Amino acid sequence: MAKQTKTKLNEMPIGIFDSGIGGLTVASAIHKILPKEQLIYFGDTAHFPYGEKSADSIKYYALRISDFLLRNNCKMIVIACNTASSVAYQIVKQQVGERATVISVIEPVVSRVAALYHHGKVGVIATKGTIKSDIYAKRLKELNPSLQVASLATPLLAPMIEEGFYNNKISRTVINSYLQRPKLKKIDALILACTHYPLIRPEIEEYYKQKVKIIDSAEIVAESVFNHLAEKGLLNTAKTLKNHFYVSDYTESFAASTGIFYKGKIQLERYALWENE
Ligand code: DGL
Repeated sequence: MAKQTKTKLNEMPIGIFDSGIGGLTVASAIHKILPKEQLIYFGDTAHFPYGEKSADSIKYYALRISDFLLRNNCKMIVIACNTASSVAYQIVKQQVGERATVISVIEPVVSRVAALYHHGKVGVIATKGTIKSDIYAKRLKELNPSLQVASLATPLLAPMIEEGFYNNKISRTVINSYLQRPKLKKIDALILACTHYPLIRPEIEEYYKQKVKIIDSAEIVAESVFNHLAEKGLLNTAKTLKNHFYVSDYTESFAASTGIFYKGKIQLERYALWENE
């Protein structure tokens, strides 16, 4: 009997959510190292971008989406959005309780960075919401008080990438003008604290010419998901079920952009979470 319950738990899906389709970079990294896991993704495209929303609104969205993922029997909920992780991680964790493990995109990254750098200056670029919460600086300094942290809001980047502007003249001009800001002078490492930014990693690397270590969260978070499941004996070894990629508002433009965030062909399905309940 106990064995049967355990097997069922293993086979339950991993829930992943984001404000839109940027979190697909995290889903893609999870799928790469855990191909047997079933993924249920929810992109809240109806409310994108979260970076411009109030903390109260984001908490409300995050709680409702977590409920939806729990109703889909998810054994784990990955908040694949820095903005949502920065303001709603604690409240989601509280609400979910013992029903599932909640992973934020921030904790695994700050732990990795604090282990890599004992002193020096770490830059953080993110949406206005994430920077306003000051979560990266707070957590990094808690783990390692001698670190200097320089946080810069880069609100143009996520919408620019979503519109397909990356690896071109326009994106390079926007990226360079942010990276040239005095705040980011003399950094040793730069955290790409937004799930959209892996797409512009090559341009950022080109700017720094290997003098600054670029830290992008997708792979670090995927490793953390693997470790948590392995520790709890919850890795799926059974036949993989179909992944689902839900969005709260379906548009052709979101559908066309999925290919840039997720390696492999996927289909977005509309789920009208906000109208249904
Ligand atoms: N995916 C969000 C994040 O990681 C960025 C986009 C938004 O503003 O919603 O912060």
